[in-house]
Amino acid sequence: MESEEIRKGFIEFFKKKKHKEIKNSSLIPENDPTVLFTTAGMHPLVPYLLGEKHPLGKRLVNIQRCIRTGDIEDVGDETHLTFFEMMGNWSLGDYFKEESIKMSYEFLVDVLKFDKNKLAVSCFEGDKDAPKDEEAADAWRRIGISEKRIAFLDKNENWWGPAGETGPCGPDSEIFYWVGDEEVPEEFDVKNPKWVEVWNNVFMQYNKLKSGEFEPLKQKNVDTGIGVERTAMVLQNKKIIFDTDLFLPILEIIRENSKKDDLKSERIIADHLKASVFILNEKITPSNLGQGYVLRRLIRRALRYCKLIDAKEDICEEIAKIVIEMYKDSYGLKKNEIFILNELKKEQEKFKKTLNNGLKVFEREVNNLKEKFLPGKIAFTLFASYGFPLEMTVELAEEKKLDVDEDGFWDEFKKHQDLSRKATKGVFKSGLADKSDETTQLHTVTHLLLQALRNHINNKIEQRGSNITSERLRFDFNFDRKLTDDELRKLENEVNEKIHEKLDVKKEEMSIEEAKEKGATGIFEDKYGEVVSVYFVGDYSKEICAGPHVENTSKIKGKFKIVKEESSSAGVRRIKGILEN
Ligand code: ALA
Repeated sequence: MESEEIRKGFIEFFKKKKHKEIKNSSLIPENDPTVLFTTAGMHPLVPYLLGEKHPLGKRLVNIQRCIRTGDIEDVGDETHLTFFEMMGNWSLGDYFKEESIKMSYEFLVDVLKFDKNKLAVSCFEGDKDAPKDEEAADAWRRIGISEKRIAFLDKNENWWGPAGETGPCGPDSEIFYWVGDEEVPEEFDVKNPKWVEVWNNVFMQYNKLKSGEFEPLKQKNVDTGIGVERTAMVLQNKKIIFDTDLFLPILEIIRENSKKDDLKSERIIADHLKASVFILNEKITPSNLGQGYVLRRLIRRALRYCKLIDAKEDICEEIAKIVIEMYKDSYGLKKNEIFILNELKKEQEKFKKTLNNGLKVFEREVNNLKEKFLPGKIAFTLFASYGFPLEMTVELAEEKKLDVDEDGFWDEFKKHQDLSRKATKGVFKSGLADKSDETTQLHTVTHLLLQALRNHINNKIEQRGSNITSERLRFDFNFDRKLTDDELRKLENEVNEKIHEKLDVKKEEMSIEEAKEKGATGIFEDKYGEVVSVYFVGDYSKEICAGPHVENTSKIKGKFKIVKEESSSAGVRRIKGILEN
């Protein structure tokens, strides 16, 4: 089934079920300064989910263009995208779990002809904020989903929202479909990637407050989301999202116009330029701020990959034209075509002038390095003189198994008067500079985690890399096997204990020798010069570091949880962790 038929089928189905179609909103949220882009169809509906009356009634349906930039660096694999279209239906205090689940099932099985024997679902397992979702599970049981195909999972998996920092949210139930060629297993295993998540039914019963509390909503809502791209992948019998009709025309152009084949590069170029066309369509232009900076990152990253596959000069323009052609009916891209192509070209020209020279500087500096660490000053030069977004330098460095001193980069950045003023105003949030409270809290948690690793796993463990956003920490360290679940729980428990102990965090300046004598960790000593700052968390952890950190561990909000432990490279493991509210 072609993607256009899927879209039409969805709208028609829900119209028959008395839903009114609402218009597709802008990619730039109008009333929510806490996010840069519309990330889900519910975004424009927040006031109505909280109880305001919607002029079109209590049952709504639409298809919403969305941008999610959280996993930009994962794009290039089989399923990650930055731009996608979400089909959604809503009940604003009208039907609830049973009816919503029935409708989803009916659309998938009766309209799209999904094989009902290949379906599995997950429901919320319950915690202190909300009970186990037996109501949703019962609805699935009544439809005929077997017990072995119903998984109960925790808040990380089966809770959705709020989209920003506060607002409507609740437990959800996700629908999975078996895409493997082999016989479908009797039992659902959420870890098996052949079970692909296609649809999310969110039961929005709570309002998350600034205090972190969940207040029950008077109005019980349903908010669902099903990606056009994922659905097309299933219905077109593809294993990879880029092999659907939503990407093939773009990939063809890339293949025809480049000298080298490289799947990852092709996918990154296709995804990033499609997303760029849609952001440009909002009249956002590339810049060093907010949405403009995300756009700049997407275009420049795509250009770097174009260079890797030796693509023709005007390939970006060709791709943009195809994207406009593919989507013109739905999003008014055609009327902005000249603007989109011009801006894309301008940014390309700007970057082309400096990309080659910047890459040469990067190579030269890397060859001169005596340690596996790229100083912040060099990253800053690449940014200021050659227009390399910091993330691009980090990515280039990763390819050479190097870390970048990101704190050092920010120190340089701050010295830059004009930019620094803007950074302190916080306009870089979720873009370039992110020194938010959350990031600072996770930074201190990272220190606790390193100490816990040394206490419980091996006292020779050292940091091999660290990357923190306001949502999660990512920590790489030297160790050569997978950690067991038991070990992971021990680490979490110790970090949480230390958070509860309300330990003071203090900074002291001292010579490297003194720091070593005191047993401070920190392997990148050479970059710090004579005097270093050592951060003490109580007397639990001592680390050479440039900060910033919380003043006391009681300022760390939420419970530390490890969401992933995996190999990063030979002899290096990677932990991703979050603070769960
Ligand atoms: N808002 C829900 C999601 O994005 C449906 O998954």
